[in-house]
Amino acid sequence: MIVCVCQSVSDRHIRGAIQDGVVSSFEELQVELGVALRCGKCEGHVRAMLVDVGACAVADPRAGHPIHFQTHITTGARHSNF
Ligand code: FES
Repeated sequence: MIVCVCQSVSDRHIRGAIQDGVVSSFEELQVELGVALRCGKCEGHVRAMLVDVGACAVADPRAGHPIHFQTHITTGARHSNF
């Protein structure tokens, strides 16, 4: 299933990158796969996937998770609410 439509990144790409140890954070996924760098609509899903596979301890509350994601996003103004 495509998670990031803008970059044509699937859940398999994301899970593979995490499981292969290529990435371990949301920011690394942005750098490696380009997710959430355009419209940003996939951000919540990508963060939830990181939590689901155990790569991150906490998630973005906008994705419906109760705990705040602790890192700061520096890739665009639309993320300035962190
Ligand atoms: S859907 Fe991922 S940046 Fe637009």
